Amino acid sequence: EDNRRESLMIVTGYAAKFFHDSLLETEEGKNIGLSYFKERGFTNETIKKFELGYSPDQWEAFTSQALKEGYQQQFLEESGLSVKRDNGSLYDRYRGRVMFPIHSFTGRVIAFGGRTLKNDKSVPKYVNSPESEIYHKSNVLYGLYFAKKAIREEDNCFLVEGYADVLSVHQAGIENVVASSGTSLTVEQIRLIGRFTKNITILYDGDAAGIKASLRGLDMILEEGLNVKVVLFPDGHDPDSYVRNFGTSGFKKHIEDNKKDFILYKTDILLKEAGNDPIKKAEVIREIVESVAKIPDSIKASVFIKECSYLLQIDERALLSELNKMRMAKA
Ligand code: UTP
Ligand code: MN
Ligand code: MN
Ligand code: MN
Ligand code: MN
Repeated sequence: EDNRRESLMIVTGYAAKFFHDSLLETEEGKNIGLSYFKERGFTNETIKKFELGYSPDQWEAFTSQALKEGYQQQFLEESGLSVKRDNGSLYDRYRGRVMFPIHSFTGRVIAFGGRTLKNDKSVPKYVNSPESEIYHKSNVLYGLYFAKKAIREEDNCFLVEGYADVLSVHQAGIENVVASSGTSLTVEQIRLIGRFTKNITILYDGDAAGIKASLRGLDMILEEGLNVKVVLFPDGHDPDSYVRNFGTSGFKKHIEDNKKDFILYKTDILLKEAGNDPIKKAEVIREIVESVAKIPDSIKASVFIKECSYLLQIDERALLSELNKMRMAKA
């Protein structure tokens, strides 16, 4: 109910301030957290705007302060900021991590991602808030509050994988950027973007996981009736590392030079895998027509069939009849 949601948001808002102050005003925060962010190239302006923070490396620093200030145990637990021990006492979920508050699209802090500073594969790199009454992961896009104006103005939304990607790209002056952090892209997230623009450009990491996620995202976006382009980054790069290495203009140039519509992108990737094997090639064609069949607008679909026919050197009528078969099967 609304009162409980408000109480939860008061707690997460307080926590954001606690972590932010701890980053900027404590010795530990400055020495460890702030110097980490500085090394990654984040400016004071970015740190303030996105309310980045640091969680002290102690078991109860946050929880005990919050209880002392009168925040209720129930809300500390439900927001995921505190975790209950078997004996009923609470400890901090986030310890010794740099903190990325997650804002609702109206700008309230509703959750956190916390990144470890250790180079230790046995601890999770990011710890994210659990689901709660105010945080439904599948309905939230990291950075949307700071991006929505630019998304409307540019009539395009860049979709990246991670927190750092959003921050670096935004800091480089490209503000129409969001991430589906902590979850793979959902239909709800696509619809959320659809309120601001019908055009999405996927900028995922240039690794196998990024390519796989991009192919999945692309089909989902088409199914929602939005337009999608994809830009691949060189293996080992993500938007954050690319923009830091090559600057705003290098980043923009990479996008312009490598931006592909979904047919071209899928064709490139799948044909590379298929090589000259005609059976595999036929499979590729079928997969691409399958994507086209997801497009609700039939005029748009027929334009893509034309492109597909040209790129793959396949008779357009054959593709259209395949498309119709798939449409019938779906209906
Ligand atoms: P990446 O592994 O690509 O991390 O995960 P990154 O964002 O580039 O992180 P840096 O640059 O090393 O700091 C992409 C996103 O997936 C989610 C996070 O949202 C992350 O930003 N993720 C990743 C998790 O939720 N948990 C994890 O353990 C790892
Ligand atoms: Mn709800
Ligand atoms: Mn990755
Ligand atoms: Mn990264
Ligand atoms: Mn990454």
